[in-house]
Amino acid sequence: MYNDNPTIQDLNAKTIDEKRQGEAFGAEFAPKKPGAKHFYIESYGCQMNFSDSEIVASILGEAGYSPIRDMEAADLILVNTCSIREKAEETVRKRLRVFNKIKEGKPGTMIGVLGCMAERLKAKFLEEEKLVDIVVGPDAYRDLPGLVAGAEDGEKGVNVFLSREETYADISPVRLQSNGVTAFISIMRGCDNMCSFCVVPYTRGRERSRSAFSIVAEATNLFDKGFREVTLLGQNVDSYKWENPETGEVTNFAQLLTMTAAVDPDLRIRFSTSHPKDITDDVLYAMRDHENVCKYIHLPVQSGNTRILDLMNRTYTREWYIDKVKRIYEIMPDCAISSDIITGFCTETEEEHQDTMSMVEFARYSMSYMFFYSERPGTPAARKLEDDVPEATKKRRLTEVIELQTSISRELNAAEVGKSFKVLIEGDSKKSDKDWKGRTTQNRMVVFPKREGEKPGDYVMVKILDSTSATLFGEPFGSL
Ligand code: 5AD
Ligand code: SF4
Repeated sequence: MYNDNPTIQDLNAKTIDEKRQGEAFGAEFAPKKPGAKHFYIESYGCQMNFSDSEIVASILGEAGYSPIRDMEAADLILVNTCSIREKAEETVRKRLRVFNKIKEGKPGTMIGVLGCMAERLKAKFLEEEKLVDIVVGPDAYRDLPGLVAGAEDGEKGVNVFLSREETYADISPVRLQSNGVTAFISIMRGCDNMCSFCVVPYTRGRERSRSAFSIVAEATNLFDKGFREVTLLGQNVDSYKWENPETGEVTNFAQLLTMTAAVDPDLRIRFSTSHPKDITDDVLYAMRDHENVCKYIHLPVQSGNTRILDLMNRTYTREWYIDKVKRIYEIMPDCAISSDIITGFCTETEEEHQDTMSMVEFARYSMSYMFFYSERPGTPAARKLEDDVPEATKKRRLTEVIELQTSISRELNAAEVGKSFKVLIEGDSKKSDKDWKGRTTQNRMVVFPKREGEKPGDYVMVKILDSTSATLFGEPFGSL
């Protein structure tokens, strides 16, 4: 997922899934067709951005553009950008220099910046990065073909309009880098939470939910195509709320979970990300009551200290979060919980950092995405608080949290040895084409030997024999 943090890359390459960052889509691409137009796209940041790139591919496909893997052969080079931390933006600027080299060698190649950085910097991009032709924010992708056509006629284009309605509900995403088994379904856009450190409310606008029917239809269609797992995506999925314009009936997240779970018992449902304040008992009961809703919740805590949580505007205290974790384990004892953590937020003391450490111990997170604080221009924290924790302290605290999390992940995984799990096969393991990789309902990665007749998308029972902090190793038995 996120990996724009050099400290994490060095310290924790195993915990953070870095392989998709900057990924150029995609697997099924046809070779360049003579006369046809081609686009190349790279994505950075969160799953939402990767999902948006699939919407972009669909919109461009309608306009006659085919995706291509070789950026040098493309007529249009796009980069879907992230603004969440400074490092993410630096990475994109570096990539733009590479794209510009290509354009120098092949004038006429169009370069477009999409996503959160486009939204944050707007037309400034065209001044700062002279070779960029179009700048398109997350709600303006329908305008891409028009903007590209304008740019071809020498008219550089910007559309960073943020919408209160756009959900791209009617657009069928082109599954670019698909394994054919797991897919993302975007269910809501934007964020109204206003955490003081976060740039997202400014880059992705107000919260809005997509039609429940279009979500269920997309899940059904994916299942029919052979997919066996969908992840319902949004900045804050638990605040999903859709009002049927014809009947006025309102669907909440717990109901949406139940509706998607009913598509087929063999379709696994995951979701991300949950804000602790919004995950209700109704959601927990919907998870408990449906075997195919995965027993895994990404529940970012950010900090374990109430004063810092208040400065972050997270709207809960340490005690309140602890109660929520207890409630989850009470309703679903086998549920795994993961987290996002920021170290060295404005004014954080050593003692307050220890509260984050003890929270990691208490919650027994299966894994966490961990970052040191990076001030983002225009956010409430940047405007009102001093970024006064020295960088070396932020990084040292981050190292401590990472080391603790890694040891807890190792312990939790070791405790799974001897148990058996239902695993959905996703594909070949990274190290050997004689082994499969797949996940348990708790989202734990399992590697195990292949057997005759098995294929990605199948469920198998696996007995766990060994483990590391990131992976379980086992042997398959019986059949489902
Ligand atoms: N600095 C560091 N980490 C941040 N995140 C969001 N904004 C910042 C920032 N300014 C982290 C939070 C969030 C995750 C997506 O990124 O932990 O949950
Ligand atoms: Fe980055 Fe935007 Fe995704 Fe946040 S929402 S992670 S800023 S791309």
